[in-house]
Amino acid sequence: MAQFTVNGKSVTVEKNQKLLRYLRDTLHLTSVKDGCSEGACGTCTVLIDGKPTKACVPQTDKLEGKSVVTVEGLSDWEKEVFTFAFGEAGAVQCGFCIPGMVICAKGLIAQNPAPTREEAAFAIRGNICRCTGYVKIIDGILLAAKIFREGKLPEPAEKGFGVGARVRRIDVPEKVQGYGKYPDDVYVDGMCYGSAVRSQYPRARVLSIDASEAEALPGVVCVLTAKDIPGKNYVGHIKKDQPTLIPVGEITHYLGDSVALVCARDLETLEAAKKLVKVEYEPLPAVHSPTEAAAPGAPLVFETDENNIQAHKHVSRGDAAGAIAGSKFVLTEHFETPWTEHAFLEPECCVALPLENGGVKLLTTDQSAHTTLHECAAMLGVDYEHCLVENQLVGGGFGGKEDMSVQHHAALLAYVARVPVKVKLSRAESILVHPKRHPMWMDFTMGCDENGIIQGVKASVVSDTGAFASLGGPVLERACTHAAGPYAYENFEIDGTAYYTNNPPAGAFRGFGVTQTCFATETLLNRMADLVGISPWEIRYRNAIRPGGVLPNGQIVGEETGLVETLEAVKPYYDEAVKNGDPVGLACAMKNAGVGVGLPDWGRAKLIVGDDAKVHIFSGASCIGQGLGTVLTQMVVTNAALALEDIVYERSNTWIAPDSGDTSGSRQTLVTGEAVRRACEKLTAALEGKSLSELKGQEFYGEYLAKTDPLGADVPNPVSHVAYGYATQMCVLDKETGRIKQMVAAHDVGKAVNPLSCEGQIEGGVVMSMGFALTEQYPIDDNCKPTAKYGTLRLFRAPDVPPVKAIVVDKPGLKLANGAIGIGEITSIPTAPAIADAYARFDGEPRSRLPLEHTPYARKK
Ligand code: FES
Ligand code: FES
Repeated sequence: MAQFTVNGKSVTVEKNQKLLRYLRDTLHLTSVKDGCSEGACGTCTVLIDGKPTKACVPQTDKLEGKSVVTVEGLSDWEKEVFTFAFGEAGAVQCGFCIPGMVICAKGLIAQNPAPTREEAAFAIRGNICRCTGYVKIIDGILLAAKIFREGKLPEPAEKGFGVGARVRRIDVPEKVQGYGKYPDDVYVDGMCYGSAVRSQYPRARVLSIDASEAEALPGVVCVLTAKDIPGKNYVGHIKKDQPTLIPVGEITHYLGDSVALVCARDLETLEAAKKLVKVEYEPLPAVHSPTEAAAPGAPLVFETDENNIQAHKHVSRGDAAGAIAGSKFVLTEHFETPWTEHAFLEPECCVALPLENGGVKLLTTDQSAHTTLHECAAMLGVDYEHCLVENQLVGGGFGGKEDMSVQHHAALLAYVARVPVKVKLSRAESILVHPKRHPMWMDFTMGCDENGIIQGVKASVVSDTGAFASLGGPVLERACTHAAGPYAYENFEIDGTAYYTNNPPAGAFRGFGVTQTCFATETLLNRMADLVGISPWEIRYRNAIRPGGVLPNGQIVGEETGLVETLEAVKPYYDEAVKNGDPVGLACAMKNAGVGVGLPDWGRAKLIVGDDAKVHIFSGASCIGQGLGTVLTQMVVTNAALALEDIVYERSNTWIAPDSGDTSGSRQTLVTGEAVRRACEKLTAALEGKSLSELKGQEFYGEYLAKTDPLGADVPNPVSHVAYGYATQMCVLDKETGRIKQMVAAHDVGKAVNPLSCEGQIEGGVVMSMGFALTEQYPIDDNCKPTAKYGTLRLFRAPDVPPVKAIVVDKPGLKLANGAIGIGEITSIPTAPAIADAYARFDGEPRSRLPLEHTPYARKK
């Protein structure tokens, strides 16, 4: 037992427990986030006697007489200052890390009212942010310190809220002050806890499951197995190959496969009951790699398949082999890129509530409420009135929350047991379960003429898609279609194969396969520049796709094409580095906006004038931290000529908000943005001579189909995607230490809806891929088990981040969505080859494998 104060109030805690659990589960102070429970992420940071401390570490019995402060306990003035400063700086994206950052800032400023940038970075060294790259969080801390010193809030720099304004995001107050709800912040009366019993073997036959001992444990509500599933057991984005629960008699695919689900009244009983579920297995040989998967006679990951090939893509245009044969310079190289873990700060969580009609309502964190609906309704065997899904705040996704992880399990437990159930993955489960970035093995050959003009590229790619298809096929397709790079040449051929293995599944990850093949193409192009005797900048400028040009996929690009502008934007920085003799590396990229290649790609939105005479924006598009709600609000401000105060952005749900597809493929700004713009046309017409009060109850619907041609379409110039974003990134090294001195990233985003937000995306994407290039690893052992913990993933921390110069190239021209193309994924694509090139120039060692070896950031052997 211990007595201490929390936010100034005295509390007596009888049962010794982690402070984090007491603050969240008993006091419901949910600004204190549970990102790992392992002391590794910093989202749970509170002040203990004025010192920032991770609340998941100390036990309450050790806190006798101490004072604990959470964000809820800040004064009104402090809340006002941090909300203003973080909003003004653009520091908030998904928001999951933000209350912890605010607490660190408060602790720092109390000791040091005028911190330097380095001191602010040091103060948040124990707190990971996966979205922002820390740049704008540090800006926010410094601005808050200044406001505290001066004692008054300054005027905001931006007054307007239309398209193109540098606006403060609409979700800043709830995220800074910690009252916004992520699913784990939901506590309802009688709520129980659910969790899966997972396979002991990556590949084994389940012979029997005995749940009797677990069911008999007091406090256990139920134990479910596959036979309790009323609808279809198998879920999956495209291919339904992921079992909700492995039935007796079937084989497991990886260590994350669930064999049984346990529901209990409290977390301790839950963990005890899981250990009492007895499962008998027949262990079988596992498939560890694509090489093993492709070997004759290899064990089959799916028993009913003929082989382990999950997807095969062949993309060809012109005569690549002939063009290479006739080239003056030819380079061939083998490249490898690793598994990568998304490491979003918010672990997967879903709360399922029984509905009176016998169905369930799911409060989720995912990349599409409608996808969750389709998957869970089919699994339950119910119609859409008996399965409602509502997005809560989403603490980052980056592609890793596109598949079912907890939603179907929570739905099944609540549906059967008729109790509210929370299912949340532990950080270890999260690292095992959600699909990762595909590792790829790539062989590329490039031919150029004497002037460095690319004549042809021929390549082959092999990927490990792990246990399930997930989005392995589309990822491989995008890896292949974009491998040619953003250049104007016609001879290109690539062959790609994705193999099932018994490793964790791979799927969508920011960049969607292009991150991997871009590393190969751009690295080869840098070496080609040396061979030709021109600079890496010059070879790109000569080959760059320009408006009206033809991409290697045959598409004629539009006026909005801005690759050359991104090259020109980095030129002064490039020239300066060369002049200084600093090792500098360069890379370009292109990335589609929208699903493309002939697949249905709908944006849909509804504007409803509520009883409050405000326009409520409803769209099934999930805001996963990238700022979609603010973007759509800006579009309504501009296209319906309304004030910010007249607009309410509603979180996605499945019963009012129309399906607008997944937040994936950098598509929502363009596709849903255009749907909103179209809805605004109808609203504007209705508003003619009327006020909003006169339109109460009326709905205005907009939809847009991004129409494209299928891969291999029999037309001379197929439209593979409605638009592409382009980028040039540059890495400058310190010539003495070999550490990164500066990153420069210029991105063509079409019309920048919110330049402040675009910068934040660029900084965050660059830092994320600095990890991909230099430090991050996701090792898998001989038992197909990922061995990393959150703290050993080697994510970049604030003090290690160099200056990142984000340049937003605002190039209108696209006649959709106010000219906006969007930016989500491309920010992470050219970073690794730019860094690899800088190191090649630093020490002369060519590097073809990630993470890069022999850098100051490499793991010490
Ligand atoms: S939850 Fe405490 S450090 Fe991650
Ligand atoms: S805003 Fe920091 S983790 Fe998302």
